[in-house]
Parts: sequence; structure tokens; C-alpha cells
Amino acid sequence: MDNTDGGALTAGARAHSNIALAKYWGKRDSALNIPAVGSISVTLDALYTDTTVSFTSDLTQDEFTLNGELQPSGQVSLRRVGDALDRVRKLAGLDRAATVSSVNNFPTGAGLASSASGFAALVVAACAAAGVAASPRELSVLARRGSASAARSIFGGFVELHTGASEDGSDSFAEELLDGAAWPLSVIVAITDESAKPVSSTEGMQSTSASSPFYPAWVADAPSNLDRMREAILARDFATVGELTEHSCLALHSLMFTTRPALIYWNAATVAAIHAVRAVRDGGIPVYFTIDAGPQVKAVCLPQNADTVAEALSAVPGVRAVIRSGLGPAARVLGTATAGTL
Ligand code: DP6
Repeated sequence: MDNTDGGALTAGARAHSNIALAKYWGKRDSALNIPAVGSISVTLDALYTDTTVSFTSDLTQDEFTLNGELQPSGQVSLRRVGDALDRVRKLAGLDRAATVSSVNNFPTGAGLASSASGFAALVVAACAAAGVAASPRELSVLARRGSASAARSIFGGFVELHTGASEDGSDSFAEELLDGAAWPLSVIVAITDESAKPVSSTEGMQSTSASSPFYPAWVADAPSNLDRMREAILARDFATVGELTEHSCLALHSLMFTTRPALIYWNAATVAAIHAVRAVRDGGIPVYFTIDAGPQVKAVCLPQNADTVAEALSAVPGVRAVIRSGLGPAARVLGTATAGTL
């Protein structure tokens, strides 16, 4: 990476959330945040985080404001943001604290991948502000250190995150598999509960790898599932992508259920929404569900069926709102400002 002499110390960036069709859960290195299995996701245009980073000599420690609320010192989110900033400061040879302001246009920490869009936007904004000319791959590695799913939000469309083999994690990066415009899909998100999840993904997966008897099988099974998912996406084979997506989701939640203590992110409306998706599919419309570490159900369908799927999910008791999304673009810098304008 180059440390360019741009002089810009403030930058804003937008990164979109993503949902994994082939999921990741568990790390092969916790300290470096390297996922134990590869994953494949789609980036979502409707869900995003806007983040501004200002490196300033006026502060002695980093400040992080999330959705307008200053995060108190000692807060995990502030520590994770500070660690991400440290990695960028090191690359830039910069010794200044930063103010970071992040706004999600969707519920935070509720299984809608706010850490994915959040850390992707953070590293893109921080590198731009600090004058670090990082390639998308390098940005992806930096984002992965913050949250593994964030590595995928650096890219748009269909994205694969590799677990890699190197000890330092330099080959654990994401890359675009297929441009979203090459195969437009719709994702309908059924929100069943907007509150933040009780157990974070990071804690949950630590506990799964330590206690679920299914965890070794999950890791062993992952490469072949990933190969099949990649091939199905490249072949635009929607039925196979959908079948693999549901299988990956249910395998993930089987891991969660068999973790001690059990991780049950679902509520009654989550289950009702799964059945609603299956009922629509039984009616002849290809649509498949997936669920992350939270109670929301995401239905993946073809754009011409998005209205029908959204209507069916809206009618499910306990579904509070429905968000419709297409596939989204890569993370990008929104603007930079020079020191003189700070
Ligand atoms: C269920 O990327 O949020 O969404 O790396 O510890 O921050 P950390 O975890 P995170 O976990 C995502 C888990 C998942 C599956 C996925 O997105 O692949």
C-alpha cells in the first residue's frame, strides 16, 4: 500500500450490507479474525452505512458516534473501531486520534449485517482520510479484520470471501464473483424484531466452535458447498442457488441450536415467515429464505416476483416491516476534505 501525500484528513464513505447465501460461522484464527470457512454473499442496495472519519490533532482519543449516539468509553464497538483505525494509522504513519460518525439506514445489530457495512465503510473512509491508497483487495483484508462479513461489503453484486491458507490472513480476502447487473436478483427482508441481538456473532461463533458436536462437520462440508454455490451462480441456476442457500442457512442454525448454551435467534414470526416462503414456492414461484444471527427472514427471488413475495411476507403475523432490495454496488468514497477545511 502507498502512503500518498493527499493532505485529506476527513473522508466519508458508503458501504452496503450483504447477506451470505453460503454462510460463514467460526474462525480459523480469532486474533486475526480469519474465517474458518469461505462464504458467498450478495451485496444489498437498500441497506447501507454512511461513515465519516476525521483524523484530528484536537483529540487525544478516538470518538465513535453511531446513529447519532456517542459510544461510551469501554464499549466493545468503540474498541473495535479503534483497532480498525490503528491498522490504518499504522499504514499511513499517522499519529492522530479520529472522530468517526456512522449512520445505518436500517436497524443496527439485528441480524441485518450492520457490522459488514459498518466496517467496510469505516476502512474505506479511514484510508481515504489518511491518504492510504489501498486496492479493493487490501481494503477487503482490512475490513475483514474488523468483521469478517465486512470483507464482502467492499464489493458489489455476488461476492466470495476466501478463508485462505496463510497464517497472517493475507489470502483471506473477498472478491467479486459476478456483477449484480449480470444477474439481477431481489431480496425481500422481513423484519420481525428490530431490537439488537442478545449474543453477538463474534461471541456466538466462539461458543459454537467450542461446544457444538456438529462444528467439525460444518467445517469439513463447507468447501464442497461453496464450490457448488459458486458454480450455480456462474451458471445463473436459480433453483440450485436457492436450494444451497436454504441448506447453508439451516446448517448454520443447526450449529446454533446445538451450541451450549443454545443460540436461538428465531422467534415465532421467523418460523411463520419460513413457512410463508415455502408456501409461495409451492405455488410455483421460485423463492428461497435465508436467516443470519438474528430473527429477520430474507427471501431471495427473481425481480418479477418481488411484489408477490413482499405481499406474502407482509401478511405474516409478527412481520413488522418489509424492506425490498436489489443487488448493490461496491463500497465507495463519498468525499474528502483537506486539513484546511476542517
Ligand atoms: C451469520 O462477520 O458479523 O452473518 O467476523 O465476528 O464480526 P465477526 O462476525 P460477522 O459474522 C457473520 C455471520 C453470519 C454469516 C455470514 O455473514 O457469512
